[in-house]
Amino acid sequence: MLNGKNVVLGVCGGIAAYKSVEIVSRLKKLGAEVDVIMTESAEKFVAPLTFRSISHNPVITDMFAEPINYDIKHISLSQKADILVIAPATANIIGKIANGIADDMLTTTVMATKAKVLIVPAMNVNMYENVIVKNNIEKLKKLGYGFMEPDTGMLACGVNAKGRMPEPQSVIEAIVDTMAVKGDMKNIRVLITAGPTREAIDPVRYITNHSSGKMGYAIAKAAQKRGADVSLVSGPVSIEKPEKITVYNVISADEMFLKVNELYEPADIIIMAAAVADYKCSVVADTKIKKSSDELTLSLVKNPDIAYSIGKKKGKRVMVGFSAETNDLYKNAKSKLENKNMDMIVANDLTKEGAGFNCDTNIVSIIGNNGEILELPIMPKEKVADEILNYAVRVYYQKKESNT
Ligand code: PMT
Repeated sequence: MLNGKNVVLGVCGGIAAYKSVEIVSRLKKLGAEVDVIMTESAEKFVAPLTFRSISHNPVITDMFAEPINYDIKHISLSQKADILVIAPATANIIGKIANGIADDMLTTTVMATKAKVLIVPAMNVNMYENVIVKNNIEKLKKLGYGFMEPDTGMLACGVNAKGRMPEPQSVIEAIVDTMAVKGDMKNIRVLITAGPTREAIDPVRYITNHSSGKMGYAIAKAAQKRGADVSLVSGPVSIEKPEKITVYNVISADEMFLKVNELYEPADIIIMAAAVADYKCSVVADTKIKKSSDELTLSLVKNPDIAYSIGKKKGKRVMVGFSAETNDLYKNAKSKLENKNMDMIVANDLTKEGAGFNCDTNIVSIIGNNGEILELPIMPKEKVADEILNYAVRVYYQKKESNT
């Protein structure tokens, strides 16, 4: 996920410094290159050798140490960084940065960098609530510095209060989120379908399903946040139109079919999260059907399959489908993946609580057309959206490379 990304991690003097070792280890597993800068007091908590062994890079502790390479370290690291993370960040370092003080390797690197900076405070609750610290944090937030909220729990001073450094996994998620904002999908055009379709029975009734559009809209927003140029073809939903996204509202499967076929050409990635009705009424009554006999039979005919039509002519585009199943999840999802010539499919298991229609979370497995299966735990649809995009972007670059 972080292949080729450079993370510079500043470690300050606090008991939470031991958690930063785990952060480095996880960043490495995700493919990042990690350089660690320790303040003088951080060395009192964890030995530089620990970070050196885990990061496989020299650890920078002293601004005036004999250089290993003859570059100016705080300049070279500030330029190399895709993100600079300070974890744990003490009241002292926050105060220094907020006031432009650059008197050691970490603060000089922060001053010199143009990379996104993510600060992860960890300190005694009274220090965290001190108005001076609060003002410094507010000042830095206004200047675009990212902050994580400390966790509440047992602090080193023995009280149960806010001030603990968040767990390594949360820090990793914040790092990934912050990097995503940087625009790894810049210049990528994404076309997304979302929501249900409505198939008219008569002027007042229709056939539909439980799709709320939340999943598709979450993907659209996440892609836009990552710099993509996003078009969204939306069935009828009650979600507000997202900013900076072109939304095309449609009602029926026929309308969605026409709109997607009109828009697909310039797209690089096409994501079909809509729950399209498979059938529509063969005849739509012109006037409201009156209640007369005890039974009413509707004659249904198949709707056009949008994904199938695009799959046949997708060329080098990456096509992502969805599959919502109540049984034989993988079997059904894989057969849709193949039949519709998709590159990957997102399988939702509707039997699980917190998955599928109209909830804020989802539980999905991403299946690649190479047979790879990535099973994800329950997470908010926004996070699922980022996981889907991570996978789709990887496939996009793989295809691009194999075409050149
Ligand atoms: O909208 P939410 O409430 O957030 O819920 C999200 C969701 C459950 C609707 C979504 O995650 C999802 O799974 N959507 C696909 C639902 C489904 O079961 O699709 P399907 O099995 O009918 O179709 C498979 C794929 O073909 C889908 O990508 C679908 O968009 C596409 N399709 C299907 C039929 C059709 N006529 N045209 C299509 O393009």
